[in-house]
This record gives sequence, structure tokens and C-alpha cells, in this order.
Amino acid sequence: MTIEIFDSRRDVVILNDNTEAIDFAVEHFIHAANVAIKDHGFFSVALSGGSTPKAIFKKLCDKENADKIDFTKVLLFWGDERTVPLDDSESNYKMAMDAGFKSLVPENHIFPMIGTGDLELNAKAYDALIKSKIPTSQFDYVMLGMGDDGHTASLFPHTTALHIADKLVVANDVPQKNTSRLTLTYDCINNAKQIVIYVLGKSKATMLNTVLNSPFMPDELPIQKIGTASSKALFILDKDAASEFS
Ligand code: 6PG
Repeated sequence: MTIEIFDSRRDVVILNDNTEAIDFAVEHFIHAANVAIKDHGFFSVALSGGSTPKAIFKKLCDKENADKIDFTKVLLFWGDERTVPLDDSESNYKMAMDAGFKSLVPENHIFPMIGTGDLELNAKAYDALIKSKIPTSQFDYVMLGMGDDGHTASLFPHTTALHIADKLVVANDVPQKNTSRLTLTYDCINNAKQIVIYVLGKSKATMLNTVLNSPFMPDELPIQKIGTASSKALFILDKDAASEFS
């Protein structure tokens, strides 16, 4: 399967179906991890939330793949978190731990975002944590999904986080969901060495076509601002999700 250039900031790869897309995503992650560990001794990754990545995490952590990466050298962060306790079924942290990372990554290399308590304080603390654990604050790998409204991480349309520069992590009020979230900022995400966005299934086809083929309007479609010339975003798609755009 070949990765195609979409524009100066984004590449796409279209797999035949969900299974092939998951397999590609797993291989891509494994390769990136091994390159990073060989290069600088660790692999810093910000995991996506939502349902799409769950299958990727499970396959990554299952026995056929678990020994393809030295997970003791993986530093696990999150791209965003909901305002729930870590043991809540809605927690992005819980989803990833239950998928298998819990038994592979050393506890002192697992850095959950804390969605309970004072979010502003928690955002500042996570910002400082990233700076303390990753010398350049540059993630090796950021994994993202795309919401039905064109959001990514917890960068939702018309929210304040879209306009915050000079921070890595912020608390973001999301009125349309009647909640607040913690999220990495554009500055943090777009500084990563690699950015992958998983968009799978027919239900995403219309929004994906809108995101990729509409004029640039990130306040409406926040995911449009992901990816730069120096840190291109790779959209990992299946044919169903890509069925409405060329
Ligand atoms: C979250 C995610 C969010 C997600 C998209 C897509 O906390 O929900 O970070 O940005 O990636 O909403 O979610 P699905 O993969 O479930 O469609």
C-alpha cells in the first residue's frame, strides 16, 4: 500500500478495509517506535481517545506484536482526556490500559491526564510533565482520530483551545458537549515528529471529504489545522471512509 501526498501538510494512505487499516496502523507505530528508540533511547507517544484506536491498541499489545517493541522504552502520554476519573468507562486512559498497555509499559512511563479536580491546574501540571520527560517537548508520535464534527483530540469547533499558542496542554470548555476537556494544543501536536490520524468507516466519509476538500476554516473544522510542512499529518483511511473524496 502506498502513502500518497495530499498537499504540503498532509499525506493519505487508503487501505482496503478496517482490518488492513488496523494492521497498517500497527506496523506504522512499531516502525516509528523502533526508529525512535534506536535514535534516542525512548519513544514518546500521545495516544488518541475515542473508539477507533481501541482495535489498534489491542493488536499492538497482543502477543504476536508485543515483542516487536521494547515497551520498557515507551513513554505513554495522552492527546486528550475527558473530565472523568481514570477508572471511568469514558476515560481515554482506561481504554488504553485495558487494551493492553497496562501489562507492557512500566508504570513510571505511563502519564495519564487527570480529568478530575482543577482542570486549569491539571493542564499546567501536564504541560510541565511533558517538558520534564521529553527534553525538546517534541513527541515522537501523536495519534489522533476525527470526530463527526471535524474535531480532533479535544480541539472542538469554536472553542478557546483553538486559539491558544505558547502552551502544550490546555483545559478546554466544550459547550456543545456540555463539558470541559484536557487537550494537547495545535502547537504541541504540530511539533511532533510524526502525526497519524485514523479515520475508518463509512460514517466518517462525508466529514472526511469536507475536511480535506473544503476551504481552510479550522474554527469550523479544527482537524484541518493538523499537519505542517515539517510535521506532515498522515491520514490512515479505509476505503469506506475515503469513499467520498478523491
Ligand atoms: C476523544 C478523542 C476524540 C476522538 C474522535 C473520534 O476523546 O473522544 O480524542 O478526538 O478521536 O472523537 O472518535 P472515534 O474514533 O470514536 O470516532
